[in-house]
Amino acid sequence: MGLRAAEIGFSLLVLFQYSYAYKLVCYYTSWSQYRDGDAACLPDNIDANLCTHVIYSFANISNNQIDTWEWNDVTLYETLNDLKQRNPKLKTLLSVGGWRMGTKRFSDLASQTESRRTFINSVTTFLRTYNFNGLDLAWLYPGRREKENYTLLLQEMADEFSKEAKRTGKERLLLSAALPAGRVTLDAGYDIRKISEYLDFINLMSYNFHGAWQKTVGHHSPLYRGKKDDSYSNVRYAVNYMLLKGAPANKVVMGISTFANTFTLASSESEVGAPILGPGAAGLYTGEQGILAYYEVCEFLPGATVKRILEQQVPYATKANQWVGYEDQESVTAKAQYLKTRQLAGAMVWALDLDDFQGTFCNQKPFPLTGAIKLALSST
Ligand SMILES: *[C@@H]1O[C@H](CO)[C@@H](O)[C@H](O)[C@H]1NC(C)=O
Ligand SMILES: *[C@@H]1O[C@H](CO)[C@@H](O)[C@H](O)[C@H]1NC(C)=O
Repeated sequence: MGLRAAEIGFSLLVLFQYSYAYKLVCYYTSWSQYRDGDAACLPDNIDANLCTHVIYSFANISNNQIDTWEWNDVTLYETLNDLKQRNPKLKTLLSVGGWRMGTKRFSDLASQTESRRTFINSVTTFLRTYNFNGLDLAWLYPGRREKENYTLLLQEMADEFSKEAKRTGKERLLLSAALPAGRVTLDAGYDIRKISEYLDFINLMSYNFHGAWQKTVGHHSPLYRGKKDDSYSNVRYAVNYMLLKGAPANKVVMGISTFANTFTLASSESEVGAPILGPGAAGLYTGEQGILAYYEVCEFLPGATVKRILEQQVPYATKANQWVGYEDQESVTAKAQYLKTRQLAGAMVWALDLDDFQGTFCNQKPFPLTGAIKLALSST
């Protein structure tokens, strides 16, 4: 009897290990191709065996139909989808929308049955034409008025994906959505329980909890609550809230950033909560105030003071009046281990092109952060 129970336990263990693999969903941004020198990233810089899913961002919407954004998108789609020759298990998705597109074209198309149909049909054709495996909806963000029609859009999209698969005999197209981690935005626009039924997975953008729109220093993606922080500005809270609102754990993909969020300090104080003048100086390659790619952090670190916010499990570096909250291999590993304890679907990375994707800046292997996440997800 004892032996039998042990045997069953053993085979369940084996079954569990074989049947369960965490997703590693990685965004690639097409505008990263325009960065200078070694920072320019094209889809063939992506390691085909690193992620389980790669999401190309972003596609546009024109006349209620999905459309390209960059002049050379079609070429880049092809390069990206060619990665599947090197890794046949890799899935690629196309993300439509993003913050630069705004919300008007989404809310317009979602507001009528006819235009939703037009959009959905255009998506199916577009994805099949360019050999993608699915769509990621990045409507940032539906408001209170659009909540119902956002749900309808996803329901009808999922329905069409199923029908199309039956009709054509092809593998069903995947459907995911990028969701905010902020409580207020989530409550306004999302019926989490319902949309979870239609989505294959949810990309939780759990990395914009603090920034230069506030008056003081805080890490943008702390795993846990900080001593001086409110209770909801951390990854753990966002995950709990998503589950509380009805998302099944096995559909939640937890976002991890490869970028840093930076501040210009207002005084000699440099602890969390220190006053700021505004965002940090723009990076040499990314060229945007308040943000640095991980490879730019690597260039910032020599001569900087590095500390960890112990209770939040994230590092920061300071030099002169610059404060840089970032992720390193240790912090992303802690996040990957955390999501495993919550039995989430996996990790999402924003973005591959902000990691040290060629290994030229950080004296590490290519993709040091994304690689550390992959390692943590695959180890038992
Ligand atoms: C996206 O589509 C809109 C509407 O057709 C158009 O005005 C805009 O220029 C497009 N954006 C890009 C980057 O092509
Ligand atoms: C939502 O869609 C319905 C049609 O399906 C439409 O009557 C309604 O006005 C839309 N709501 C908004 C806020 O656009």
